[in-house]
Amino acid sequence: MSGKRIVFTGGTGKAGRHAVPHLIAHGYSVLNVDLKPLDLPGVPTLIADLTDNGQAFNALTTHPTFAGFNDGRPPSPPDAVVHFAAESHVDRSIYEPAAAIQTNVTGTFVLLQIAKKLVLSKFVHVSTDEVYGDMAPGAFSNEETPIHPSSPYSASKASSDLLVHSYVRTYNFPAVITRASNNYGPYQFPEKFLPLLISNLLEDKPLPIYGDGKQVRDWLHVEDHCRGIMAVLERGRIGEVYNIGGADIVENIAMAKALLNAMGKPETLLTYVKDRPGHDRRYALNCKKITAELGWQPQITLADGLRQTIDWYKTNTAWVAAVRGGEYLSYYDKYYKNRDASLHAIAPKSPSSV
Ligand code: TYD
Repeated sequence: MSGKRIVFTGGTGKAGRHAVPHLIAHGYSVLNVDLKPLDLPGVPTLIADLTDNGQAFNALTTHPTFAGFNDGRPPSPPDAVVHFAAESHVDRSIYEPAAAIQTNVTGTFVLLQIAKKLVLSKFVHVSTDEVYGDMAPGAFSNEETPIHPSSPYSASKASSDLLVHSYVRTYNFPAVITRASNNYGPYQFPEKFLPLLISNLLEDKPLPIYGDGKQVRDWLHVEDHCRGIMAVLERGRIGEVYNIGGADIVENIAMAKALLNAMGKPETLLTYVKDRPGHDRRYALNCKKITAELGWQPQITLADGLRQTIDWYKTNTAWVAAVRGGEYLSYYDKYYKNRDASLHAIAPKSPSSV
């Protein structure tokens, strides 16, 4: 598909920082669609709110910017869409679910309605292993595993997966779904576990560990994720789901200790805090399908990836400081410093208190 034009949604976040350069390096022209511009030279952004039907429709279909592709060729609709845009933070979806539902369900629906009118060779819907919910010890989810989401976030992603699937079945729409495990790497907002821990450690602050810390996650470097999406974009079969996992399945507490060790900090910084409501204990992906069919497998070991990620956060202190200001500070204070009270406030009232 090289030389073709891709509309990439949500490119202004961490995903775009990694995936857009990948696409460009492989010869694609990319038009980012997001609420804010992506500051990568030569990559145009079409500002459009996918949750606003009329506005998004106008922006994407009547705007001359299908001319916005920066490749000097005459305007034309895209050949493919990679739909990355999402509210992806589980905790925020628990505290304030509306944004996840709006962006992930309504936003996907609006985009599908627009994309259905284009002649696309592929629509890659980027989803998550969280749609499978908790996996029992020793069990792995493959693409046939029933979805069983636990949080408003994972339920919103599962809903969007079902919508995409319905468009394939009903409208013959050329979509493929990817489900990735926990991503890590540069540019990740420090509300997620690894960047939160690394940026706290840079300031010798405590590491908040939810519950007993024995929850298990499958860690995937964002660059391996991008390579997986690329393989699915180029060779994935329409109507299929492809799991993309890192094969590094680790308990949170072990991950925290690995970071302490790598950054030369003491274990006294580990701080157990009240658990996340509805917290999934274990995610683990079976990725045999994408390996067998598309030849993809992760290339970055967790040890190498962690070292590189820590170095990136150490070097990019200005970026870290900027994203840890303002709204982040009030979020952190509310859900970490006043965690018990804040979680109590969102818990259902007991019958006696009604
Ligand atoms: P997170 O990065 O939010 O990803 P997800 O919930 O999508 O897996 O969290 C990863 C794991 O780390 C998860 O089990 C929750 C846990 N966690 C903590 O223990 N402390 C924290 O401060 C955060 C943000 C997460």
